[in-house]
Amino acid sequence: MGSNIIGVGSYVPEKILTNADLEKMVDTSDEWIITRTGIKERRICPPEKATSDLGTEAARRAIEDAGIDSSQIDMIICATITADMIFPSTACIIQNNLGIENVPCFDLSAACSGFIYGLEVARNLVNGGRYNKILVVAAECMSRVTDYTDRSTCVLLGDGAAAAIISKTEDSTGILDTYLGASGKYGNLLYVPAGGSRMPATHETVEKRMHFMRMEGSALFRIAVNAMGESVKNILDRNGIKVQDISLVIPHQANIRIIQGVAKMIDVSMDRVFLNIEKYGNMSAASVGVALDEAVKTKKIKKGDLICMVSFGAGLTWAANLIRWGKNG
Ligand code: ACO
Repeated sequence: MGSNIIGVGSYVPEKILTNADLEKMVDTSDEWIITRTGIKERRICPPEKATSDLGTEAARRAIEDAGIDSSQIDMIICATITADMIFPSTACIIQNNLGIENVPCFDLSAACSGFIYGLEVARNLVNGGRYNKILVVAAECMSRVTDYTDRSTCVLLGDGAAAAIISKTEDSTGILDTYLGASGKYGNLLYVPAGGSRMPATHETVEKRMHFMRMEGSALFRIAVNAMGESVKNILDRNGIKVQDISLVIPHQANIRIIQGVAKMIDVSMDRVFLNIEKYGNMSAASVGVALDEAVKTKKIKKGDLICMVSFGAGLTWAANLIRWGKNG
């Protein structure tokens, strides 16, 4: 017996920021953004809402999809790098929003790899026997750490949330394996300089826009293709599975060219790679989860299919998993 995703849900805010909107804000063009990234539009959280609000809605949808009552959830993990506040955890805020009492809740920081990291933590805790139904939420308001005067980053990011319920399986379906990795030596390629204990927020840090994300895009690009490609190769090799056996690859939606590079490296045709980047851009931890939910709801995944999620993000972190899907869409 193992564990599997018994319900999945996602939520994106209504407000759309198009490439045409960005053309009015920075020196860029629809043509540059589409050819260099594959992104046409992204969603933006309204000012009165925060990461936990997006996460709570995604969680409600996952609970409904699983056909369970929220009182059956016995742990909440929230993967995010845009927590509502430094503390308390966004997971605790989501718990309160859902009216769930007295279960452990904590946040997990692995940037864009956060959903796959969260699933792996949940899988092992369920397999350990102490927990029965764990809610994993991946929620981000990337717009809150994006500098909309910096054309090299502001075109890439969007807001959204996904959630999954992990529970025991009675058959051969399940999360079969997960490959996780990280390399802190590349931390300087993608980070937010101020607002933490290293450099607390001051008037000066705000004036210098140091509470926004800084990124070395081209260096990240090269590492991302390699880290994601190697993660998939590793997890396939150690499970004796051939790439032809995978029905659908669900990659992190950071850049269409990164995804194409990974597909080439692992030798999978693009018709077996799920894409929704043009609608949402990069939603960090939420990206892979929202893609999974859309793939399930549009019947691109059916019961018994073998799927592979793969991601990379700030840290740097990377992750891939193999899931024998156990639910009808
Ligand atoms: N519009 C027009 N021109 C632009 C824009 C823009 N939005 N952004 C950059 N340029 C210019 C640059 O200034 C540069 O001009 P120059 O040649 O005159 O100096 C030129 O375009 C090429 O810039 P590059 O950075 O070399 O462009 P590249 O092809 O590498 O694409 C991109 C840039 C899209 C950022 C790419 O490197 C990328 O996707 N990298 C990975 C980013 C990523 O996935 N990050 C993870 C982020 S999120 C997370 O983990 C939380």
